[in-house]
Amino acid sequence: MLRGERVHQKIWEHRRQRSPGRSPGAPGLNCLVLGGGGREYAIAWRLANCASVTTIDITPGNAGMSLFTRLVDFRPDDVGRLEEHIVASHIDLAVVGTDELIAAGIGDVLRRSGIAVVGASREASRVEWSKRYAKELMDEAGVPTARWEAFADAAAAREALDRWGGPVVVKADGLALGKGVVVARSADDAREALGSPPISGGPVLLEELLEGDEASLQALVDGETVVALPPARDHKRVGDGDTGPNTGGMGAFSPTAVLPDHEAQPVADALIAPIARTLRKRGVDYRGVLYAGLIRTDRGWRVLEYNARFGDPEAEVTLPRIEGDFARLLVALGEGKLAAYVAENPVRFSDRAFVDVVLCAENYPGTPKTGMRIDGLDRLPEGVFSFHGATRRDPTGGTVVSGGRAIHIVGTGANLSEARDRAYLGAERVSFEGKFYRSDIARQEVAVA
Ligand code: AMP
Ligand code: GLY
Repeated sequence: MLRGERVHQKIWEHRRQRSPGRSPGAPGLNCLVLGGGGREYAIAWRLANCASVTTIDITPGNAGMSLFTRLVDFRPDDVGRLEEHIVASHIDLAVVGTDELIAAGIGDVLRRSGIAVVGASREASRVEWSKRYAKELMDEAGVPTARWEAFADAAAAREALDRWGGPVVVKADGLALGKGVVVARSADDAREALGSPPISGGPVLLEELLEGDEASLQALVDGETVVALPPARDHKRVGDGDTGPNTGGMGAFSPTAVLPDHEAQPVADALIAPIARTLRKRGVDYRGVLYAGLIRTDRGWRVLEYNARFGDPEAEVTLPRIEGDFARLLVALGEGKLAAYVAENPVRFSDRAFVDVVLCAENYPGTPKTGMRIDGLDRLPEGVFSFHGATRRDPTGGTVVSGGRAIHIVGTGANLSEARDRAYLGAERVSFEGKFYRSDIARQEVAVA
């Protein structure tokens, strides 16, 4: 018997015996979260707040998560070790956080073990890693989006620029971690974008430039069942006033007047459910989180993009707003029983507001400086949490910066204004050399509220 088959047989034997807890007499869910950023911190933190959860393991995790979860000592893409760990630690629920792991097919690998898995399959996640595929799907599903044209390479797109003229959005077709999109106000800007990496290096899309307010809508998707989560807004540009290059996200907040909570499900029904149905028609069952990046134009909502996972930093401000037993909800999704579960336990959003201000390392979104010691994490004001994004322990036990989006300072309050004030109070208390953050997260929304 092959090693892989042996492992699977063992997993199935264990599952038949179905030990409810890791140690005898400790009933509850054993969870495994894959990833090591602020989003995975938020997932783990929300799971930790569920009565149904007994243990949480994480790979690779970070310094902050090690305080309330167990960091396991193998990489999240080490398939052999993952499968062994699922057996040895009686894992019931696995949540795949990052786009790279989902695109690499880790969702498929985990599902082979027969446990509940929240993470789209590699095939389903194509909606994220091929923009062309997503556009074709939207056209087939009748989902409104920007007019588009795909090209085999940048040279072909350059030839089409005369035809496109004026302002245009230039996009790399593949996974570019939020860095493959350039909004070009003129044909010259577009030409420059087409000549620079990562756009110059592969297939390219040109898109009509849409104007309007953006919002992020995440939904749990199980086949054709689509359950909306609280809407949010994020801030993608590095500088105040939406200036400078795109980043993975400099901050976020929820709720938002642009897409109020009560419109979340109807908008998900209109803009996410058709994608789930069309995928199923193509023989692809979606089981995970489907995120729609939306823009509200004067002709209505348009979809800018889909992601096959929770948003980051959207997860940090939306997961804390989901009431009820989040772990059981995810288990239902992972087991393909979401419709029945939400019929009995409808998902409700809390009225509390959350604002995330990301503390970044010098030079982000370029190669960030790392290794600086972080102080003040133990002096956060009431109603403020630090969701670690990129931190590790140094040999003296201190916490140091290990990547660009080091710490998410998440403030909560009865309304956005209070949550925002608290988040900024927290952002000032935490210090490290070269720390910077945007000063206008949620400002516009608070000003109009
Ligand atoms: P994407 O990764 O496709 O969501 O693009 C990243 C960001 O670029 C979006 O959040 C928008 O701010 C902007 N963007 C993308 N496509 C368009 C478009 N067609 N019109 C206007 N802005 C866009
Ligand atoms: N906040 C955008 C993303 O997660 O892709």
